[in-house]
Amino acid sequence: MPAKWTLDELTPGRTVEATFWPNPAEDSAFALRATHLDGRRAPKVVLSNDPRIVPGVPCLVKVVAVHKPDRDDRGRIEVAYVGPAPFRIEGVYLDPIVAKKLQVLLEGGLNILLDGPQGCGKTVLARSIADSLGMAFVFFNCGAVVEASDFFVTIQVKASASGAPVTDFVKTDILLAIEEAAEHPERRYLVFLDELNRCQESARNALMPALDSTRRVFHPIENTFVPIPDNVQFIAAVNRGREFSGTFGIDAAQLDRFAPLQMTYPPPPAEVEILARRHPGLSKATLEVVVGVADAIRNAADLPGSLSVRATDEACVYLAHPLFGDDRRALPEILKTSFCGRFPGRWDDVTTDAGAVWALVRTSLQQAQVPVPDRDDD
Ligand SMILES: Nc1ncnc2c1ncn2[C@@H]1O[C@H](COP(=O)(O)OP(=O)(O)O)[C@@H](O)[C@H]1O
Ligand SMILES: [Mg+2]
Repeated sequence: MPAKWTLDELTPGRTVEATFWPNPAEDSAFALRATHLDGRRAPKVVLSNDPRIVPGVPCLVKVVAVHKPDRDDRGRIEVAYVGPAPFRIEGVYLDPIVAKKLQVLLEGGLNILLDGPQGCGKTVLARSIADSLGMAFVFFNCGAVVEASDFFVTIQVKASASGAPVTDFVKTDILLAIEEAAEHPERRYLVFLDELNRCQESARNALMPALDSTRRVFHPIENTFVPIPDNVQFIAAVNRGREFSGTFGIDAAQLDRFAPLQMTYPPPPAEVEILARRHPGLSKATLEVVVGVADAIRNAADLPGSLSVRATDEACVYLAHPLFGDDRRALPEILKTSFCGRFPGRWDDVTTDAGAVWALVRTSLQQAQVPVPDRDDD
């Protein structure tokens, strides 16, 4: 496809994707300008004043008219806003059905609960949703929350001028975002509550009015309830490994505040793609072995916990290093630490989970024709 559009191709009615930015031309009647359509350079500037267009966020527009088509130096392409660009997240594998559900939930402004084993991509997904929708991303780990107020302030003890200790309330990123969102209704905020299952139940309960239709929180510094503006969206994540099957400590009333979305590890070919992108020096065959072994471990019925994409990524970091140099014969040694090391016990103790994982690593590697030292030499 040629790098630049011709005017003939841009017939009225044609729908294309564009990303607008504030128009640098000060004397222009248009506030927003784009230079590319569907990633190709446009033959004239594309201008718009549509308030639904958010600068920097891809959207779909329809060509309405081309002004001054016969002048090279002037004119503009007039477009009409059609809607947001199709949901697409660069570099993150997302099950297509989950992607569709996610788009619906996000458009509806519902609170979302990402539910899946550790390292299946919940955090990268939330972060890239924010990026691709032009939202400010607020990451908050709930693991350290003991009291309800911890969501909104931390208490810090400092020395005063006289040396006597004074306590100071410091707003958390969540509270700062809620305040900022009220001042900037044109901005959008995504508050990501990571490991929501790990905070104290009572603290979580106090968060509930923020998440239901009351949408307000108690501001511990101002001693009053403040409303949560509509431009704040919550996404929470819980790690549900097999060891937590059935329950993860969030009661039904709390769960009901969220639209749950189940996630799981990417299918092996998708994981190979993710790793190939990060470790371009490694051969596809090697990546397939690493992912194949991980897949066998994830599918093993009686192991607690599971193996995250961090584990396969770590094995690749070793392999990609010149000290190991994409040598598959190093895999037994690498997986002893990167895979077995993530389970309780020791790789050489068959009565432990790490030992059970080592047995699986051995068989899977042997099936993949990777030499594994004999038991006696281990
Ligand atoms: N579906 C996925 N697509 C792309 N990368 C992934 C995916 N799942 C995991 N990863 C990678 O694995 C690592 C852990 O992912 P993370 O999002 O932190 O997992 P979680 O939050 O579910 O524990 C990150 O480096 C991430 O890039
Ligand atoms: Mg995470």
